[in-house]
Amino acid sequence: MEKEKNTLTITDNRTNQSYTVPIDKGAIRAMDLRKIKTGPDDFGLMSYDPAFMNTASCQSSITYIDGDRGILRYRGYPIEVLAEHCTFLEVAYLLQFGNLPAEKELKTWVNEITHHTMLHEIIKDFMEGFRRVSHPMSMLVSGVAALSAIYPDAKNVLDPESRLHQIKRLIAKMPSISAMAYRHTLGFPYVYPDNDLSYTENFMNMLWKMVEPKYRAAPELARALDVLFILHADHEQNCGTNTMRCVGSAHTDPFLATAAAAAALAGPRHGGANEEVLKMLDEIGSKQNVPAYIKRIKEGHSKLMGFGHRIYKSYDPRARIIKWTAEQVFQVTKRNPRIDVALELERIALEDDYFVQHKLYPNVDFYSGIICQAMGFKPEMFTVLFAIPRTAGWLAHWDEMMRDPEQKIARPRQVWTGEPERRFVPITERAAPALV
Ligand code: ACO
Repeated sequence: MEKEKNTLTITDNRTNQSYTVPIDKGAIRAMDLRKIKTGPDDFGLMSYDPAFMNTASCQSSITYIDGDRGILRYRGYPIEVLAEHCTFLEVAYLLQFGNLPAEKELKTWVNEITHHTMLHEIIKDFMEGFRRVSHPMSMLVSGVAALSAIYPDAKNVLDPESRLHQIKRLIAKMPSISAMAYRHTLGFPYVYPDNDLSYTENFMNMLWKMVEPKYRAAPELARALDVLFILHADHEQNCGTNTMRCVGSAHTDPFLATAAAAAALAGPRHGGANEEVLKMLDEIGSKQNVPAYIKRIKEGHSKLMGFGHRIYKSYDPRARIIKWTAEQVFQVTKRNPRIDVALELERIALEDDYFVQHKLYPNVDFYSGIICQAMGFKPEMFTVLFAIPRTAGWLAHWDEMMRDPEQKIARPRQVWTGEPERRFVPITERAAPALV
């Protein structure tokens, strides 16, 4: 009999039995492997995939990436087109609702987000508890988690209307908490949101307003920040988004789940890399030192920060847009001299056998820190600048997961490598364990 197409036949050489499992959208279901057993007491076959190298944990229609061809699309729209024509809040709407808003919808959406930017005054007291030298990411993560205590209605995660309410609150309040954390490190008074301003202008106002009656951001810089926010708004099932889905799958409220996702983002292998890039460029110092630095990387002393990506193996399309945005920013600010070291690093690395063979290219973090520094941000703020827009993506994924009838609490399996059952030995009879 002809085998049905779109199936996979597996022969278990332990038993000589064959099994046929369906293939759907290029994937087999791991649960279909469970029926592959050596006998009735066998648990069944599992797939083993540390770091999810080849495991899809959900079906999603939000962000599409083709890593080999360097393609990134939100809801079908290429990132380059969105970065050129949209505002960040327009893109946040697209991620959330699946379509670009018409004029009226956008106006309502922007108005709603704008009217949720205020923070409860208690957050100020909370912020005061931090030492001035605290990292802004630590303050942001804690501040977002604290919002869970302020909005107990957010626990109502099964109600789509309540979910949307929390989504608006979170997108609106991320810049406010971030700016508060930043001002706390400087010892400056906190600035309240200004509803006349756009999302990014208002963020800049809360960061940098001093005694002037009205803060006015340079339009080029506000736009550059908006582009940066668009580029960072979502990126499929990355570590932070996977955390959001995983924590959210326990029906934890979205403030706590967002805090968890932001905590994942804080790591230097993830969103923390932009801060590391700046440290690296400072360490290199000047263009002449680049070849020696590359040699050290190839000898395995460290990784070239801002290079490499789990998914992109040809080029990170966001890096190209950021490189272009950097030039726009430098027309308003002073040119950041680190850009020359970065360009030289990129030039040499892209010609080098090691980087070519390992398919290592600049990622989004390679140039973003240089722009942000030129705009006046301290390196400790870089990951915060990533977390603000990524919140829109995290929440779109959270809502998608909550609507997906197939999703349950996320709970991976393990391959057991420990001892079988052991006999308990009283402490007086135990031999000292050998020192490792
Ligand atoms: N510099 C030098 N070598 C590298 C680099 C790098 N930046 N990245 C990967 N490699 C090498 C690895 O040493 C490994 O070499 P080997 O096969 O000879 O042992 C090979 O390339 C594969 O690397 P992995 O670490 O297995 O790739 P993985 O997909 O797990 O890691 C990651 C991707 C974490 C981004 C990695 O490239 C890295 O650490 N880059 C630097 C940090 C960074 O820029 N992170 C930001 C990523 S973008 C983002 O999260 C927003």
